[in-house]
Amino acid sequence: MTAHQSQQAHHGTDGPQGDAGSGHLPGGFAEHAELPEGHFYDPDAEFEPDPEYAATLAPDAARQRRERIGPTGRPLPYFPIPGPVSEHGPAKIIAMCNQKGGVGKTTSTINLGAALAEYGRRVLLVDFDPQGALSVGLGVNPMELDLTVYNLLMERGMSSEEVLLKTAVAGMDLLPSNIDLSAAEVQLVSEVARESTLQRALEPLLPDYDFVVIDCQPSLGLLTVNALTAAHKVIVPLECEFFALRGVALLTETIEKVQERLNPQLELDGILATMYDSRTVHSREVLARVVEAFDDNVYHTVIGRTVRFPETTVAGEPITTYASNSVGAAAYRQLAREVLARCHAE
Ligand SMILES: Nc1ncnc2c1ncn2[C@@H]1O[C@H](COP(=O)(O)OP(=O)(O)OP(=O)(O)O)[C@@H](O)[C@H]1O
Ligand SMILES: [Mg+2]
Repeated sequence: MTAHQSQQAHHGTDGPQGDAGSGHLPGGFAEHAELPEGHFYDPDAEFEPDPEYAATLAPDAARQRRERIGPTGRPLPYFPIPGPVSEHGPAKIIAMCNQKGGVGKTTSTINLGAALAEYGRRVLLVDFDPQGALSVGLGVNPMELDLTVYNLLMERGMSSEEVLLKTAVAGMDLLPSNIDLSAAEVQLVSEVARESTLQRALEPLLPDYDFVVIDCQPSLGLLTVNALTAAHKVIVPLECEFFALRGVALLTETIEKVQERLNPQLELDGILATMYDSRTVHSREVLARVVEAFDDNVYHTVIGRTVRFPETTVAGEPITTYASNSVGAAAYRQLAREVLARCHAE
């Protein structure tokens, strides 16, 4: 099967057009791109807060707007709209990784990827979970696929062209997966240089993309070690729930081991707080503890809890197209700008 081929022209690099008519900043945060034409951003202006955004992210929206304090309790920097790029590649590889299940890895992979693509970056998403949730989330039925990332990993001479699928998002491609990938975990054990199999498979693709984002499965097994070995950066999504920090020590230990033994260039890019709801004291406390533990490693961007995300899975598309003006779409666009700002700071 093939994914729906994109008929869309490439989005411009001056940000999403869909939000332009909304007339106010969602929550008054640094959403410069979303201002209607002819309006200028004034940080002191009183904007009518988007009620959903205010409720999920800001217990005291007025104070946060006034003092420009972000949901993590730190002053919110301005993340500029990324300028256009005339040439693409070589790609930065990001592994979306947490061995805990259901923390927002797949949701963040799809939506960060789509937001980067909206900003004119060429993006390759790699479904590295035999469950195939990333593929499903992009409207692909994994059961119908003949060729997946499994074939690319295990069959010498397999060309990536045969496995790659275009997505409905202009500039974003997918290496899909299905249950076949679970066999790779076993088969790779007897391979030479088994930890760097994915790295070798991705290498020929890097000149064509600006970002490769790998959606890891919820385990620290050989597939995840392959993703970490291939990656330049790791993003760790953390659900703002009581057990969020449990297991993070094991994850950081694994990242350090891969750094020491297999991939010295690997870095933790950031911890991404997901499913945050400021209406609960609990969510706020968990976020405060995460910031206390990881400090500057925590992204300023926080993803609020909204039912829009489960809806997008059913729709088989990113939130940036499914609900372009939504709070969730704005959050992932801000994350894309924050990730790009961190890249440029290097
Ligand atoms: N910010 C959010 N608000 C509400 N629901 C969310 C949010 N992010 C993700 N979800 C939902 O939570 C569920 C788990 O998310 P997701 O599949 O992205 O996590 P995951 O870490 O990839 O899970 P797994 O470990 O099983 O691969 C999904 O149903 C998703 O739609
Ligand atoms: Mg997942």
